[in-house]
Amino acid sequence: MGAKPMDRYKALCAVVIDTGTGHTRSGLAGDEQPRSVVPSQAGGSPVLTHGVVTNWDGLEELWHRILYQELGVCPEEVAVLATDGPLSPIANREKMAELLFEGFGVPAMLVLPRSLLAAYSYGRTTGVVVGSGAGTSYTAGVREGYALPHATFRLDVAGDALTLYLGQLLESRGVHLDTDPLCRLKETCCCVLPGAGRPQPVTPPGTSTLLQGDERFRCPEVLLAPTTLGLPEPGLLEQASHSLRRCGGPPGGPAPCLLLAGGTTLLRGLPQRLAEELGVSTEAAPRRRAAAWLGGSLAASLDAFQGAWVPRDVYGEGGPATVHPHCC
Ligand SMILES: Nc1ncnc2c1ncn2[C@@H]1O[C@H](COP(=O)(O)OP(=O)(O)OP(=O)(O)O)[C@@H](O)[C@H]1O
Ligand SMILES: [Mg+2]
Repeated sequence: MGAKPMDRYKALCAVVIDTGTGHTRSGLAGDEQPRSVVPSQAGGSPVLTHGVVTNWDGLEELWHRILYQELGVCPEEVAVLATDGPLSPIANREKMAELLFEGFGVPAMLVLPRSLLAAYSYGRTTGVVVGSGAGTSYTAGVREGYALPHATFRLDVAGDALTLYLGQLLESRGVHLDTDPLCRLKETCCCVLPGAGRPQPVTPPGTSTLLQGDERFRCPEVLLAPTTLGLPEPGLLEQASHSLRRCGGPPGGPAPCLLLAGGTTLLRGLPQRLAEELGVSTEAAPRRRAAAWLGGSLAASLDAFQGAWVPRDVYGEGGPATVHPHCC
């Protein structure tokens, strides 16, 4: 008797690859942290723009390096779980499937939204994920293990834009810094202000003398008010409130909680500001920078997940479109 599909993939080792705008995290399913974190670049060029793959040859080169060198696996022997950005074009998944099956010859693969995987990293299947990395931010409703597109909003203001804006603020005072020191300054000194009516935080001792003005508050505020950068989109707070409204359960039931994911959500004061202004409980795990990868690692190692893989033979019969029914 042939093995059930679920059992066939149990024997396979699974690899999880989260290709972000800035860095790609990869490792084996079941591990507690990625084995490799490398810049998402190929031949010195970026592979993604605002969280969406724009350089497919570059992605192939990057994944080749990751699979063979960083992880030392043979792609013909591993199932690959890849991640997809919020509201990415559908063709993205199909091209990833094509690359993994036809380019690397993997036996099984799956592409899942980062928002869903980030929720899994909190051990949750319902909630509103507030994500912000290097190139893109989003808020996304997740309900009972499905990412809800109608409760998902994207904002192309994230860590890179904050670093640039901090540079502009300092330039206007005649201070010039290169990108790397600016980025470090942002990460160590910037702070999201508390909600209206709350006392402003005191500048902690040891804050760089370069940031004694209000730049350290003004810089992260553009995440919440992108109009400062001339962008028409609502900010992350407003988007989170829309996601909460659209993913709520039955009236009178508990509001879903906010789950933070991505490096830019490490900004000091951000979880508190979101919780205060939206009046919902907010979870901000210390390891949230890698939330999507961690959730993928957790999910792909569960027995119950093994039936979700898209097997090679199914892809062979149905072509790239077969990746959709399995994904949410
Ligand atoms: N403590 C911190 N405070 C503020 N920003 C931080 C902090 N630590 C990291 N960051 C910022 O987080 C960003 C990187 O986040 P992350 O690694 O989640 O992005 P990514 O996955 O490469 O990109 P994306 O998810 O947007 O496609 C960088 O801009 C970095 O400066
Ligand atoms: Mg990311």
